Amino acid sequence: MKIGIVGSGAMGSGIAQVFAQAGHRIILMDTQEAALEKASLSIRDQLDKQVNRNNISKERAAEIRQCIEVSTQLNALQDCDLVVEAIVENLEVKKNLFRQLDELCDRNTVLATNTSSLSVTAIAAACKNPSRVLGIHFFNPATILPLVEIIPAIQSDHRKVEWAKEIVAKAGKVPVIAKDTPGFIVNRVARPFYGEALRILDEGIADIATIDQAMRDGGFKMGPFQLMDLIGHDVNYTVTESVFASFYYDPRFKPSITQKKLVEAGWLGKKTGRGFYDYSEGAAMPQPSDDMNLRKNIFDRILVMLINEAFDTLYLGIASAEDLDLAMTKGVNYPKGLIQWGNEIGTDALEQLLDHLFDYYKDDRYRCSPGLRREGN
Ligand code: NAI
Repeated sequence: MKIGIVGSGAMGSGIAQVFAQAGHRIILMDTQEAALEKASLSIRDQLDKQVNRNNISKERAAEIRQCIEVSTQLNALQDCDLVVEAIVENLEVKKNLFRQLDELCDRNTVLATNTSSLSVTAIAAACKNPSRVLGIHFFNPATILPLVEIIPAIQSDHRKVEWAKEIVAKAGKVPVIAKDTPGFIVNRVARPFYGEALRILDEGIADIATIDQAMRDGGFKMGPFQLMDLIGHDVNYTVTESVFASFYYDPRFKPSITQKKLVEAGWLGKKTGRGFYDYSEGAAMPQPSDDMNLRKNIFDRILVMLINEAFDTLYLGIASAEDLDLAMTKGVNYPKGLIQWGNEIGTDALEQLLDHLFDYYKDDRYRCSPGLRREGN
Protein backbone atom coordinates (compact mmCIF):
# COMPACT_ATOMS: atom_id res chain seq x y z
CA MET A 1 0.00 0.00 0.00
CA LYS A 2 1.12 3.58 -0.57
CA ILE A 3 0.91 5.83 2.47
CA GLY A 4 1.52 9.57 2.47
CA ILE A 5 2.64 11.43 5.57
CA VAL A 6 2.36 15.22 5.66
CA GLY A 7 4.72 16.90 8.13
CA SER A 8 8.09 15.29 8.82
CA GLY A 9 8.66 16.51 12.38
CA ALA A 10 8.92 14.39 15.52
CA MET A 11 5.64 12.57 14.84
CA GLY A 12 5.60 12.41 11.03
CA SER A 13 9.06 10.86 10.80
CA GLY A 14 8.19 8.24 13.44
CA ILE A 15 4.89 7.36 11.75
CA ALA A 16 6.68 7.05 8.38
CA GLN A 17 9.14 4.60 9.91
CA VAL A 18 6.39 2.52 11.55
CA PHE A 19 4.51 2.10 8.26
CA ALA A 20 7.68 1.53 6.21
CA GLN A 21 8.71 -1.24 8.61
CA ALA A 22 5.28 -2.78 8.10
CA GLY A 23 6.05 -3.08 4.38
CA HIS A 24 4.27 -0.04 2.94
CA ARG A 25 5.63 2.46 0.44
CA ILE A 26 5.87 5.89 2.01
CA ILE A 27 5.84 9.41 0.64
CA LEU A 28 7.01 11.72 3.42
CA MET A 29 6.07 15.29 2.55
CA ASP A 30 7.04 18.55 4.26
CA THR A 31 7.18 22.13 3.01
CA GLN A 32 10.61 22.50 4.63
CA GLU A 33 13.54 20.79 2.90
CA ALA A 34 15.52 21.01 6.16
CA ALA A 35 12.78 19.16 8.06
CA LEU A 36 12.89 16.33 5.50
CA GLU A 37 16.68 16.07 5.80
CA LYS A 38 16.42 15.95 9.57
CA ALA A 39 13.70 13.27 9.35
CA SER A 40 15.79 11.10 7.02
CA LEU A 41 18.75 11.33 9.39
CA SER A 42 16.58 10.52 12.38
CA ILE A 43 15.03 7.48 10.65
CA ARG A 44 18.51 6.27 9.66
CA ASP A 45 19.69 6.65 13.28
CA GLN A 46 16.69 4.74 14.59
CA LEU A 47 17.21 1.91 12.12
CA ASP A 48 20.96 1.77 12.86
CA LYS A 49 20.11 1.33 16.52
CA GLN A 50 17.87 -1.62 15.63
CA VAL A 51 20.71 -3.14 13.57
CA ASN A 52 23.13 -2.70 16.50
CA ARG A 53 20.66 -4.44 18.79
CA ASN A 54 20.37 -7.28 16.25
CA ASN A 55 16.64 -6.63 15.85
CA ILE A 56 16.97 -6.30 12.09
CA SER A 57 19.72 -6.97 9.54
CA LYS A 58 21.70 -4.24 7.77
CA GLU A 59 20.03 -5.24 4.50
CA ARG A 60 16.55 -4.99 6.01
CA ALA A 61 17.36 -1.50 7.38
CA ALA A 62 18.46 -0.43 3.90
CA GLU A 63 15.27 -1.88 2.40
CA ILE A 64 13.08 0.01 4.88
CA ARG A 65 14.87 3.27 4.09
CA GLN A 66 14.35 2.67 0.39
CA CYS A 67 10.61 2.43 1.00
CA ILE A 68 10.56 6.06 2.14
CA GLU A 69 10.53 8.73 -0.53
CA VAL A 70 10.60 12.39 0.48
CA SER A 71 9.03 15.38 -1.25
CA THR A 72 8.26 19.05 -0.73
CA GLN A 73 5.31 18.82 -3.15
CA LEU A 74 1.79 17.97 -2.04
CA ASN A 75 1.11 16.55 -5.53
CA ALA A 76 3.40 13.64 -4.68
CA LEU A 77 0.58 12.31 -2.45
CA GLN A 78 -1.90 12.08 -5.30
CA ASP A 79 -2.15 8.29 -5.60
CA CYS A 80 -1.81 7.31 -1.95
CA ASP A 81 -4.30 4.90 -0.33
CA LEU A 82 -3.94 6.63 3.02
CA VAL A 83 -2.58 10.06 3.96
CA VAL A 84 -1.69 10.82 7.59
CA GLU A 85 -1.33 14.49 8.48
CA ALA A 86 1.17 15.46 11.23
CA ILE A 87 1.68 19.20 10.70
CA VAL A 88 1.32 22.09 13.18
CA GLU A 89 -1.49 21.88 15.75
CA ASN A 90 -3.59 24.68 14.26
CA LEU A 91 -7.17 24.13 13.14
CA GLU A 92 -7.18 26.62 10.27
CA VAL A 93 -3.87 25.35 8.86
CA LYS A 94 -5.05 21.74 9.12
CA LYS A 95 -8.43 22.52 7.52
CA ASN A 96 -6.68 24.25 4.64
CA LEU A 97 -4.46 21.20 4.08
CA PHE A 98 -7.41 18.78 4.20
CA ARG A 99 -9.30 20.94 1.69
CA GLN A 100 -6.32 20.58 -0.69
CA LEU A 101 -5.92 16.84 -0.04
CA ASP A 102 -9.63 16.31 -0.63
CA GLU A 103 -9.29 17.95 -4.07
CA LEU A 104 -6.04 16.21 -4.93
CA CYS A 105 -6.51 12.58 -3.84
CA ASP A 106 -8.66 9.83 -5.27
CA ARG A 107 -12.12 9.73 -3.67
CA ASN A 108 -11.29 6.43 -1.94
CA THR A 109 -8.13 7.71 -0.29
CA VAL A 110 -8.52 7.81 3.49
CA LEU A 111 -7.37 11.07 5.05
CA ALA A 112 -6.24 10.92 8.68
CA THR A 113 -5.10 13.50 11.19
CA ASN A 114 -2.65 12.89 14.04
CA THR A 115 -4.06 15.80 16.03
CA SER A 116 -3.98 15.38 19.80
CA SER A 117 -6.31 18.22 20.76
CA LEU A 118 -8.35 19.47 17.80
CA SER A 119 -11.77 18.31 16.68
CA VAL A 120 -11.50 15.63 13.98
CA THR A 121 -15.09 16.49 13.05
CA ALA A 122 -14.14 20.14 12.40
CA ILE A 123 -11.20 19.03 10.24
CA ALA A 124 -13.43 16.62 8.29
CA ALA A 125 -15.94 19.42 7.69
CA ALA A 126 -13.34 21.19 5.51
CA CYS A 127 -13.69 18.37 2.94
CA LYS A 128 -16.37 17.82 0.31
CA ASN A 129 -16.11 14.13 1.16
CA PRO A 130 -15.84 14.16 4.98
CA SER A 131 -16.77 10.47 5.37
CA ARG A 132 -13.18 9.48 4.45
CA VAL A 133 -11.64 11.57 7.25
CA LEU A 134 -10.73 10.19 10.68
CA GLY A 135 -8.13 10.57 13.44
CA ILE A 136 -5.14 8.24 13.81
CA HIS A 137 -3.43 9.47 16.95
CA PHE A 138 0.04 8.07 17.64
CA PHE A 139 1.95 8.72 20.87
CA ASN A 140 5.43 10.14 21.10
CA PRO A 141 7.79 8.44 20.24
CA ALA A 142 5.63 6.74 17.59
CA THR A 143 8.22 4.02 16.91
CA ILE A 144 8.24 2.94 20.57
CA LEU A 145 4.80 3.49 22.10
CA PRO A 146 2.34 0.79 20.99
CA LEU A 147 -0.94 2.68 21.50
CA VAL A 148 -2.77 4.37 18.62
CA GLU A 149 -6.15 6.03 19.18
CA ILE A 150 -8.46 5.78 16.16
CA ILE A 151 -10.98 8.61 16.22
CA PRO A 152 -14.00 8.57 13.94
CA ALA A 153 -15.38 12.03 13.19
CA ILE A 154 -19.17 12.12 13.36
CA GLN A 155 -19.13 12.11 9.53
CA SER A 156 -16.72 9.13 9.18
CA ASP A 157 -17.66 6.00 7.23
CA HIS A 158 -17.38 3.18 9.80
CA ARG A 159 -15.90 0.81 7.15
CA LYS A 160 -12.99 3.23 6.72
CA VAL A 161 -12.57 3.32 10.50
CA GLU A 162 -12.36 -0.50 10.64
CA TRP A 163 -9.95 -0.45 7.69
CA ALA A 164 -7.66 2.05 9.46
CA LYS A 165 -7.79 -0.01 12.65
CA GLU A 166 -6.66 -3.08 10.75
CA ILE A 167 -3.75 -1.29 9.06
CA VAL A 168 -2.57 0.08 12.39
CA ALA A 169 -2.85 -3.36 14.04
CA LYS A 170 -0.95 -4.98 11.14
CA ALA A 171 1.84 -2.43 11.70
CA GLY A 172 2.29 -3.95 15.17
CA LYS A 173 0.46 -1.24 17.10
CA VAL A 174 -2.43 -1.49 19.55
CA PRO A 175 -5.40 0.45 18.14
CA VAL A 176 -8.28 1.60 20.32
CA ILE A 177 -11.40 3.45 19.21
CA ALA A 178 -12.29 6.74 20.88
CA LYS A 179 -15.18 9.12 20.25
CA ASP A 180 -14.21 12.54 18.93
CA THR A 181 -14.26 14.35 22.28
CA PRO A 182 -11.58 16.55 23.95
CA GLY A 183 -8.42 14.65 24.84
CA PHE A 184 -9.84 11.43 23.27
CA ILE A 185 -8.95 8.73 25.85
CA VAL A 186 -5.44 9.16 27.22
CA ASN A 187 -5.19 12.94 27.35
CA ARG A 188 -8.52 13.07 29.17
CA VAL A 189 -8.31 10.13 31.56
CA ALA A 190 -4.72 10.91 32.61
CA ARG A 191 -5.50 14.52 33.63
CA PRO A 192 -6.09 13.78 37.35
CA PHE A 193 -2.65 12.15 37.59
CA TYR A 194 -1.22 15.65 37.21
CA GLY A 195 -4.16 17.79 38.37
CA GLU A 196 -4.82 16.06 41.69
CA ALA A 197 -1.09 15.86 42.47
CA LEU A 198 -0.83 19.62 41.89
CA ARG A 199 -3.86 20.22 44.09
CA ILE A 200 -2.35 18.19 46.93
CA LEU A 201 0.86 20.20 46.57
CA ASP A 202 -0.99 23.53 46.44
CA GLU A 203 -2.90 22.65 49.59
CA GLY A 204 0.39 21.98 51.38
CA ILE A 205 -0.59 18.39 52.19
CA ALA A 206 2.73 17.04 50.90
CA ASP A 207 5.77 18.05 48.87
CA ILE A 208 6.67 16.88 45.35
CA ALA A 209 9.08 14.16 46.46
CA THR A 210 6.49 12.61 48.79
CA ILE A 211 3.68 12.72 46.20
CA ASP A 212 5.96 11.19 43.56
CA GLN A 213 7.05 8.45 45.96
CA ALA A 214 3.43 7.74 46.91
CA MET A 215 2.57 7.03 43.28
CA ARG A 216 5.69 4.91 42.75
CA ASP A 217 4.78 2.96 45.92
CA GLY A 218 1.52 2.09 44.18
CA GLY A 219 3.19 0.75 41.03
CA PHE A 220 3.45 3.79 38.71
CA LYS A 221 6.88 3.92 37.04
CA MET A 222 7.17 7.67 37.62
CA GLY A 223 5.57 10.16 39.96
CA PRO A 224 3.45 13.01 38.51
CA PHE A 225 6.05 15.75 39.08
CA GLN A 226 8.82 13.64 37.58
CA LEU A 227 6.59 12.91 34.60
CA MET A 228 5.47 16.54 34.10
CA ASP A 229 9.16 17.57 34.19
CA LEU A 230 9.87 14.97 31.50
CA ILE A 231 6.93 15.88 29.24
CA GLY A 232 7.72 19.59 29.61
CA HIS A 233 5.45 22.05 31.42
CA ASP A 234 4.78 24.00 28.24
CA VAL A 235 3.28 20.89 26.61
CA ASN A 236 1.56 19.49 29.71
CA TYR A 237 0.06 22.83 30.79
CA THR A 238 -1.20 23.60 27.26
CA VAL A 239 -2.98 20.22 27.07
CA THR A 240 -4.58 20.83 30.49
CA GLU A 241 -5.73 24.33 29.53
CA SER A 242 -7.12 23.08 26.22
CA VAL A 243 -9.00 20.13 27.81
CA PHE A 244 -10.35 22.48 30.56
CA ALA A 245 -11.67 25.01 28.01
CA SER A 246 -13.07 22.25 25.75
CA PHE A 247 -15.10 20.84 28.65
CA TYR A 248 -16.70 24.24 29.26
CA TYR A 249 -14.53 24.82 32.36
CA ASP A 250 -15.52 21.71 34.28
CA PRO A 251 -13.65 21.99 37.64
CA ARG A 252 -12.48 18.39 37.24
CA PHE A 253 -9.95 19.62 34.66
CA LYS A 254 -8.91 22.91 36.28
CA PRO A 255 -5.25 23.81 35.60
CA SER A 256 -2.87 24.83 38.39
CA ILE A 257 -1.38 28.29 38.85
CA THR A 258 1.73 26.64 40.28
CA GLN A 259 2.35 24.90 36.97
CA LYS A 260 1.59 28.08 35.03
CA LYS A 261 4.31 29.90 37.03
CA LEU A 262 6.86 27.30 35.92
CA VAL A 263 5.91 27.93 32.29
CA GLU A 264 6.18 31.71 32.82
CA ALA A 265 9.61 31.30 34.40
CA GLY A 266 10.80 29.10 31.52
CA TRP A 267 11.33 26.24 33.99
CA LEU A 268 9.95 23.77 31.51
CA GLY A 269 11.38 20.63 33.11
CA LYS A 270 14.26 18.33 32.31
CA LYS A 271 14.84 19.89 28.89
CA THR A 272 15.66 23.29 30.43
CA GLY A 273 17.50 21.87 33.46
CA ARG A 274 14.79 22.97 35.84
CA GLY A 275 11.14 22.25 36.47
CA PHE A 276 9.71 21.05 39.76
CA TYR A 277 13.10 19.43 40.31
CA ASP A 278 16.49 21.04 39.79
CA TYR A 279 18.52 18.99 37.26
CA SER A 280 21.74 21.00 37.51
CA GLU A 281 24.85 19.10 38.45
CA GLY A 282 25.25 18.56 42.15
CA ALA A 283 21.75 19.83 42.99
CA ALA A 284 20.29 18.02 46.01
CA MET A 285 17.25 15.87 45.27
CA PRO A 286 14.44 16.41 47.80
CA GLN A 287 13.67 13.32 49.85
CA PRO A 288 10.14 11.93 50.42
CA SER A 289 8.53 11.83 53.84
CA ASP A 290 8.61 8.36 55.40
CA ASP A 291 5.06 8.78 56.72
CA MET A 292 3.53 5.71 55.05
CA ASN A 293 0.02 6.67 56.08
CA LEU A 294 0.32 10.02 54.33
CA ARG A 295 1.75 8.33 51.22
CA LYS A 296 -1.12 5.82 51.15
CA ASN A 297 -3.72 8.61 51.46
CA ILE A 298 -2.13 10.56 48.59
CA PHE A 299 -2.06 7.47 46.38
CA ASP A 300 -5.70 6.63 47.16
CA ARG A 301 -6.84 10.18 46.39
CA ILE A 302 -5.08 10.43 43.03
CA LEU A 303 -6.07 6.90 42.02
CA VAL A 304 -9.75 7.41 42.87
CA MET A 305 -9.79 10.54 40.69
CA LEU A 306 -8.23 8.60 37.80
CA ILE A 307 -10.68 5.72 38.18
CA ASN A 308 -13.61 8.15 38.39
CA GLU A 309 -12.51 9.77 35.12
CA ALA A 310 -12.16 6.37 33.44
CA PHE A 311 -15.64 5.29 34.59
CA ASP A 312 -17.10 8.62 33.43
CA THR A 313 -15.48 8.16 30.01
CA LEU A 314 -17.01 4.68 29.84
CA TYR A 315 -20.40 5.95 31.07
CA LEU A 316 -20.48 8.60 28.33
CA GLY A 317 -19.71 6.00 25.65
CA ILE A 318 -16.38 7.54 24.63
CA ALA A 319 -14.65 4.14 24.60
CA SER A 320 -15.21 0.54 25.66
CA ALA A 321 -13.91 -0.77 28.99
CA GLU A 322 -11.41 -2.94 27.14
CA ASP A 323 -10.08 -0.03 25.05
CA LEU A 324 -9.92 2.25 28.09
CA ASP A 325 -7.72 -0.25 29.92
CA LEU A 326 -5.56 -0.87 26.84
CA ALA A 327 -5.13 2.88 26.34
CA MET A 328 -3.81 3.56 29.83
CA THR A 329 -1.54 0.52 29.98
CA LYS A 330 -0.15 0.74 26.42
CA GLY A 331 -0.16 4.53 25.98
CA VAL A 332 1.06 5.77 29.36
CA ASN A 333 2.34 2.59 30.97
CA TYR A 334 -0.06 2.47 33.91
CA PRO A 335 0.51 -0.63 36.02
CA LYS A 336 -3.12 -1.70 35.53
CA GLY A 337 -6.14 -0.63 33.51
CA LEU A 338 -8.28 1.79 35.53
CA ILE A 339 -11.59 -0.02 34.96
CA GLN A 340 -10.06 -3.31 36.05
CA TRP A 341 -8.37 -1.57 39.00
CA GLY A 342 -11.65 0.06 40.05
CA ASN A 343 -13.49 -3.25 39.96
CA GLU A 344 -10.74 -4.95 41.96
CA ILE A 345 -10.78 -2.30 44.70
CA GLY A 346 -14.57 -2.29 44.69
CA THR A 347 -16.65 0.57 43.34
CA ASP A 348 -18.53 1.00 46.66
CA ALA A 349 -15.32 1.92 48.48
CA LEU A 350 -14.32 4.31 45.69
CA GLU A 351 -17.73 5.95 45.72
CA GLN A 352 -17.44 6.50 49.48
CA LEU A 353 -14.01 8.07 49.14
CA LEU A 354 -15.23 10.46 46.43
CA ASP A 355 -18.33 11.38 48.45
CA HIS A 356 -16.10 12.10 51.41
CA LEU A 357 -13.90 14.42 49.28
CA PHE A 358 -17.00 16.06 47.82
CA ASP A 359 -18.52 16.66 51.28
CA TYR A 360 -15.28 18.12 52.58
CA TYR A 361 -14.46 20.43 49.65
CA LYS A 362 -18.01 21.15 48.40
CA ASP A 363 -16.39 21.22 44.96
CA ASP A 364 -17.92 19.71 41.82
CA ARG A 365 -14.44 18.46 40.95
CA TYR A 366 -15.04 15.55 43.34
CA ARG A 367 -18.47 14.49 42.10
CA CYS A 368 -18.73 10.76 41.67
CA SER A 369 -19.48 9.73 38.08
CA PRO A 370 -22.90 8.13 37.66
CA GLY A 371 -20.97 5.39 35.85
CA LEU A 372 -19.04 4.52 39.02
CA ARG A 373 -22.11 4.88 41.26
CA ARG A 374 -24.10 2.62 38.95
CA GLU A 375 -21.40 -0.11 39.15
CA GLY A 376 -21.67 -0.15 42.92
CA ASN A 377 -25.44 -0.61 42.99
P1 NAI B 1 6.72 19.26 14.59
O1 NAI B 1 6.68 20.72 14.80
O2 NAI B 1 7.87 18.47 15.09
O3 NAI B 1 6.58 18.97 13.01
C1 NAI B 1 5.62 19.56 12.18
C2 NAI B 1 6.16 19.54 10.76
O4 NAI B 1 5.10 19.93 9.86
C3 NAI B 1 7.31 20.53 10.51
O5 NAI B 1 8.39 19.83 9.94
C4 NAI B 1 6.72 21.55 9.52
O6 NAI B 1 7.68 22.03 8.58
C5 NAI B 1 5.66 20.75 8.82
N1 NAI B 1 4.55 21.53 8.26
C6 NAI B 1 3.90 22.58 8.82
N2 NAI B 1 2.91 22.99 8.00
C7 NAI B 1 2.95 22.19 6.90
C8 NAI B 1 2.17 22.10 5.71
N3 NAI B 1 1.15 22.93 5.51
N4 NAI B 1 2.48 21.15 4.82
C9 NAI B 1 3.50 20.29 5.03
N5 NAI B 1 4.28 20.33 6.13
C10 NAI B 1 3.99 21.27 7.06
O7 NAI B 1 5.34 18.71 15.19
P2 NAI B 1 5.04 17.29 15.87
O8 NAI B 1 5.41 17.32 17.29
O9 NAI B 1 5.59 16.21 14.99
O10 NAI B 1 3.43 17.27 15.83
C11 NAI B 1 2.73 17.09 14.63
C12 NAI B 1 1.27 16.80 14.94
O11 NAI B 1 1.17 15.63 15.77
C13 NAI B 1 0.53 17.90 15.69
O12 NAI B 1 -0.80 17.93 15.27
C14 NAI B 1 0.62 17.43 17.14
O13 NAI B 1 -0.40 17.95 17.95
C15 NAI B 1 0.46 15.93 16.96
N6 NAI B 1 1.00 15.13 18.04
C16 NAI B 1 2.19 15.48 18.63
C17 NAI B 1 2.71 14.70 19.66
C18 NAI B 1 4.00 15.08 20.31
O14 NAI B 1 4.25 14.63 21.44
N7 NAI B 1 4.86 15.88 19.67
C19 NAI B 1 2.01 13.50 20.14
C20 NAI B 1 0.83 13.17 19.37
C21 NAI B 1 0.34 13.99 18.40
